[in-house]
Amino acid sequence: MNAEVDNGLEVVVLAAGKGTRMYSDLPKVLHELAGEPLLAHVLRHVKQLGPGAVHVVLGHGAERIKDRFKHEQVRWVQQQPQLGTGHAVQAALPGISPQSKVLVVYGDVPLAGPPVLRPLLQQCAPGNIALLTVTVDDPGGLGRIIRNPDGAVVAIVEDKDAEPDQLNIKEVNTGIVAVYAEDLSRLLEHLGNDNAQQEYYLTDVVQIAVSGGYNIVDSTAADPVGVAGVNTKMELACLEQHMRKQRARELLEQGVTIVDPDRFDARGDVSFGKDCVVDINVVLQGPLTIGSGVHIGPHCVISRSEIGDGVTIKPQCVIEEARIGADAIVGPFSRVRPGARIGDNVHIGNFVEIKNSELSSGTKVNHLSYVGDSTVGHNVNIGAGVITCNYDGTNKHRTEIEDDVFVGSNSQLIAPVKLGRGANVGAGSTISEDVPPGHLAVGRARQKNIKGWQRPRKKRP
Ligand code: UD1
Ligand code: MG
Repeated sequence: MNAEVDNGLEVVVLAAGKGTRMYSDLPKVLHELAGEPLLAHVLRHVKQLGPGAVHVVLGHGAERIKDRFKHEQVRWVQQQPQLGTGHAVQAALPGISPQSKVLVVYGDVPLAGPPVLRPLLQQCAPGNIALLTVTVDDPGGLGRIIRNPDGAVVAIVEDKDAEPDQLNIKEVNTGIVAVYAEDLSRLLEHLGNDNAQQEYYLTDVVQIAVSGGYNIVDSTAADPVGVAGVNTKMELACLEQHMRKQRARELLEQGVTIVDPDRFDARGDVSFGKDCVVDINVVLQGPLTIGSGVHIGPHCVISRSEIGDGVTIKPQCVIEEARIGADAIVGPFSRVRPGARIGDNVHIGNFVEIKNSELSSGTKVNHLSYVGDSTVGHNVNIGAGVITCNYDGTNKHRTEIEDDVFVGSNSQLIAPVKLGRGANVGAGSTISEDVPPGHLAVGRARQKNIKGWQRPRKKRP
């Protein structure tokens, strides 16, 4: 966020609409783009402008939205019922200082950031409206910009209200405007709802302003995608694809080897060190820090984690909220769950699940094991098929395994239990009592060999 706060600037984010065209019970601004709700993108952008206040107008699904953003420093405004974008701005006005410059943005326009917004703010002065338009190939559904023969903007006509010849206009409203609060409240007083949708359109303030002698200072956005709105799942998918490609391009430019940028997804805040290689169909979800010399094999999903230098992640791993130390090897087919803290040089192999456990350096868990709620020391060897039985049906318990322990294959460690330094567990044991340091524990029935054993014979019918 910008350190400098501009107290003369207040932002209004419109997010009360139903999102009818998404055909979903989820409020539109909670639909995710690149791993974050649409509204999170909008709030991140406007906060970079350092506004004195951000007012978010809510209506449909307000409680869910407030709950999702409960840590945000914003003023929530209720718009009930939702009678249109102009009505939504009216709902926010009582909380805005009359002297402030107001930037209005729509909660469903997620990519418009400071490079687009700042010039508009600079153009805005008392007595004018700074309006951002854009020219698109397919203007369907959007508000058309009407200009007089001199080229001056005189009105915005919504798609549903447009005359056939106006429908051919390809210059459209982005929904982003800047105007002084005093001017805005005066203009909004004149809004009516005599239109196809019987709504109070914010866009009508343009025509009202022109008749009232205000100036419309318009500028045109260079990149239509950067100001595109999301009204349908198709539009959401287009922006997702755009962001995916853009992220891949940025990381390639920073020197990450991405085997196929079309089959790579980095969402949110993802950073790489030098000389990393990412194979196909990898999904990365930030916040994620990846060190240098990391190799990520195909078909891995890695979220909200820290991956140390030199780590190798083999194919088909799922890693979530974990920390993985330098030079560790994970996979193929490993699941590393929240709270896993994997030390340097640790090996986690195929069909191994680690949850809420610390594994210190040099430890190996290579095959078919579950390690949960455990503290595992250095250079421990956990054999194939070992299970820490951490749950008694009611409570979770911890397993402690000290340095240099060897746990034989197919053993169960019934927590709470502690294996002392250098202890050994015989294969196939069920360990329910602590094992002192250096001891061998064998917890299984002793083998009997029976000489001359006859197999049972088949009975005749
Ligand atoms: C709007 C504009 C259109 C512009 C397009 C750009 C109007 C009337 N139309 O159309 O000119 O080309 O955006 O993307 O402004 N909202 C409220 N309260 C309401 C209604 C809507 O807060 O009563 C919010 C919605 O949650 C949404 C935003 O305002 O975030 C825009 O509403 P939406 O219905 O998506 O308008 P568009 O049809 O996209
Ligand atoms: Mg919209």
